[in-house]
Amino acid sequence: MKRILITGVTGGLGRAVADLCLAKSFHVTGLFHSNEKAVEAIRKKNSGVDLKKVDLSNLSETEAAAKKISENSWDAFIHLAAAPLELSPVMKQTWASFELQWRIMVQSGVVLTQALLPGMRQSGRGHLIYCLSALTVGSVPKGMASYATAKYGLMGFVNSVAAECAGSGISVNTISPGPMDTDLLKNLPEVAKSQLKKSAPSGEFLDTRVIAADIVALLSL
Ligand SMILES: NC(=O)c1ccc[n+]([C@@H]2O[C@H](COP(=O)([O-])OP(=O)(O)OC[C@H]3O[C@@H](n4cnc5c(N)ncnc54)[C@H](OP(=O)(O)O)[C@@H]3O)[C@@H](O)[C@H]2O)c1
Repeated sequence: MKRILITGVTGGLGRAVADLCLAKSFHVTGLFHSNEKAVEAIRKKNSGVDLKKVDLSNLSETEAAAKKISENSWDAFIHLAAAPLELSPVMKQTWASFELQWRIMVQSGVVLTQALLPGMRQSGRGHLIYCLSALTVGSVPKGMASYATAKYGLMGFVNSVAAECAGSGISVNTISPGPMDTDLLKNLPEVAKSQLKKSAPSGEFLDTRVIAADIVALLSL
């Protein structure tokens, strides 16, 4: 049975990924922050799922979780966690908002990858999958500096991991979805949400289940 670690498991995309993994009878460990309602809903569907509350913006909490995680062997790491988008011009974005996105996406991505890699290297297999965003393959919309900075930071880290894992049997992938109607967008004004929706190729929000299926498909490569 594959053992999968998912950050952001209580998010719109995380729940869809967890559903697919559980349907395949994978053993899922999911990290979440505050959404107890989603935790209850996931546990209701599958009592075997292992959900842990960890504030990934907190370095010592993340390192403590990583230490425990490093005691097991893992087939896959799917890194989805991100803080809700806050829309404002560069001049108005506080350092705290840059730091929050950075810590959740990059700091925790680094710490958890470092915990998982030795076991994967030893077994000569594993999947590392990191969620970026369409803004890392196209243009960055106005007002998203802290989010975009962290996504590009994560991309730099993933490219380094990929270079070091070449030929090791470990696959390293990113996925860069367009807009999905999840809690990530909950603080955006309606007009910004509707512009984001229009920016999608179909003019509609992407279905989290479709993106989740793309992520889970990477596990069989
Ligand atoms: N939605 C979009 O339009 C879109 C587009 C492109 C890429 N993405 C990417 O897709 C991924 C999933 O996003 P989503 O749309 O599913 O967003 P979401 O519904 O807001 O989910 C975000 C997840 O991150 C977790 N999280 C937030 N702060 C945390 C913290 N301090 N510590 C630990 N976990 C924390 C949340 O936990 P709690 O729920 O427990 O608080 C939740 O599980 C993200 O990487 C996002 O950047 C999203």
